[in-house]
Amino acid sequence: MARFIGVVSGKGGVGKTTVVSNLSYALNELGQRVIAVDCNVTTPHLSNYMPNFSWRTTLNDVMKKKADIFSALHYANGVYVVPASLNLADLVDVDITTLRETVQPLANINSLVLLDSAPGLGKEALSVLHSCEEILFVTIPQKSAVNDILRCAEVAEEIGLKRLGLVLNMYRKKKYNLAQEEIEEITGLKVIGNISFDEKVIQAISSRSPLVKSWPESKVSQEFMKLAANLINIPYKRQGKISRMINRLFRRNQELTSRNYPILHTTNKDLTTAGDKILDLLAANKKMKISEVAEKVNLSEEEIYKWGKILEEQRLLSMQPSIFGIKKSKLVWND
Ligand SMILES: Nc1ncnc2c1ncn2[C@@H]1O[C@H](COP(=O)(O)OP(=O)(O)OP(=O)(O)O)[C@@H](O)[C@H]1O
Ligand SMILES: [Mg+2]
Repeated sequence: MARFIGVVSGKGGVGKTTVVSNLSYALNELGQRVIAVDCNVTTPHLSNYMPNFSWRTTLNDVMKKKADIFSALHYANGVYVVPASLNLADLVDVDITTLRETVQPLANINSLVLLDSAPGLGKEALSVLHSCEEILFVTIPQKSAVNDILRCAEVAEEIGLKRLGLVLNMYRKKKYNLAQEEIEEITGLKVIGNISFDEKVIQAISSRSPLVKSWPESKVSQEFMKLAANLINIPYKRQGKISRMINRLFRRNQELTSRNYPILHTTNKDLTTAGDKILDLLAANKKMKISEVAEKVNLSEEEIYKWGKILEEQRLLSMQPSIFGIKKSKLVWND
């Protein structure tokens, strides 16, 4: 079952989208399936903060009942993203108050669904509060932002949401900043993530690769890893390059030797482990023979062929014939 977590703030520009993008990859690094949804439909940013991925269907299409939520799920290098349309005209006929029923079908996918909210307590932000069960507050260590959190926290309490805690973003020791203890006292919330101010965060966004992905050893990335570990209730262990590599290898081996694959269906509703494994392999290798993929993920070539078609429909990869062949025999990653 999915955990729906709203990522909210009172004041705008405090780092919600930055937290959603980095936290998604941090959780993924810890072996979690993550779906990040851009619920800020009037000023969407999430897709610009994520690695490039090809997409046609958006949350707007789903809200307008032109598509189902599963066709708006796009795989971006390990994490699934539901983008909101960047085209202003696509706002016509979008009713954000239908957000809850729009994302509800994701409840059956074993995952963490992170809802990136608009700031404040307007219609968009309230829709997020009404679509999640758990809530993560983001603030900067300044009085106006912290006071605004208090209002959101009150509303969250009224709705009966589980308040996971506060992420203190862009933290640096300055006289004008509030100390962590003061913030906890004002808001009545526990700080569960402390993310330093670092220009590398901005650089990483501009090159469309969240810092956790592009520079996992950096201090801020480790701060995100710590937050991720906290959210899934596991102890945080600082990981160097080598231990991360070993962990990944170990996890991959574990996955690849597992024969407990879910049954293959022909609709893209089935975002199952087999599809993920194929995508992971392709993302790393860019081009592979179907026979090679079959061997690596322990499925028959026919099954890989079927998966290839599903993933091709989602434009995640393409299938190609080999040079002299007629039958499709290669999977090619779509960058
Ligand atoms: N830890 C950080 N260090 C340095 N810059 C940061 C950090 N976190 C966020 N930023 C920068 O702050 C700006 C605002 O971040 P972001 O867009 O994530 O805020 P937001 O809360 O999602 O905004 P909005 O309310 O408009 O949705 C961005 O330019 C981002 O790069
Ligand atoms: Mg944002």
